[in-house]
Amino acid sequence: MLSRGYTTELLTGKDSSKRKSRIPARIDFLQSVSGLVLALFIMFHLVFESSILLGKDAMYMLTKVFEGEPFIQGGEPLIISVLAFIIFAFFVLHAGVAMRKFPSSYKEYRRYTEHKALLNHNDTNLWYVQIMTGFIMFFLGSIHLYIMMTQPENIGPYASSDRVYSDLMWPMYLVLLISVVLHAGIGLYRLIIKWGVFDGKDPKANRQRSRRIAKVLVTAYLLLGLASLGAYMRIGYEHRGEYGQRYVPGSGK
Ligand code: HEM
Repeated sequence: MLSRGYTTELLTGKDSSKRKSRIPARIDFLQSVSGLVLALFIMFHLVFESSILLGKDAMYMLTKVFEGEPFIQGGEPLIISVLAFIIFAFFVLHAGVAMRKFPSSYKEYRRYTEHKALLNHNDTNLWYVQIMTGFIMFFLGSIHLYIMMTQPENIGPYASSDRVYSDLMWPMYLVLLISVVLHAGIGLYRLIIKWGVFDGKDPKANRQRSRRIAKVLVTAYLLLGLASLGAYMRIGYEHRGEYGQRYVPGSGK
């Protein structure tokens, strides 16, 4: 029996061995999907984590909900470990497939920066920011996720604030926050353009509108993240004398 490829060759006269491989398109798709999952995750994450702005009790309650307290007496921090592990798997997958986009030699990098200076094209600059923030997140995202996987019981109004302030994690969170918000914002914008989500009848005008929406979202998330980080730092500072002590719900202290 003739293979399908061979039959096609006979019918079309084309050599199927020269057909373009589908693998690059599949890898590209994998990158888009994993990026979308991570971007959506981070959008929810920064909102949930800003519950500290509503008070210690609000953050405590939310932490317990994530630990499954409505169903499990006292909550189970292992649930957070599993969630962090799943996110970490997406993180590694996304970084792994994105690596192919990194300049692979100094020569290639120089060629790119010259090209960028020459064109000063907005979308080319955005690509550069994404590569840089992605590189930073390789390290900082891994540190954060490792802590979340291995110390899930140390999340809460005081535990988190002690980590941010007394364990000196705030400089790392500050850099991670800026990197992840820019990276996710630009990533989502590029996805919208790539898949033509809002192209409609006037793709150019819609592209500009998408860009404006992305800018507003990035600014809003940066402000929210900075406000939360400030709150964790203030609580951590006030709690520095009782480092390690856990929050008692309803006590306000
Ligand atoms: C399931 C996985 C994750 C969990 C459970 C988690 C949990 C937390 C918690 C509890 C905080 C508050 C500070 C603390 O307790 O140390 C925090 C802060 C933060 N996380 Fe995550 N996180 C996760 C994944 C990620 C990922 C993948 C990123 C980005 C790569 C990220 C970026 C941040 C940033 C930037 C902050 C500081 C936020 C701010 O300044 O407002 N997190 N995270």
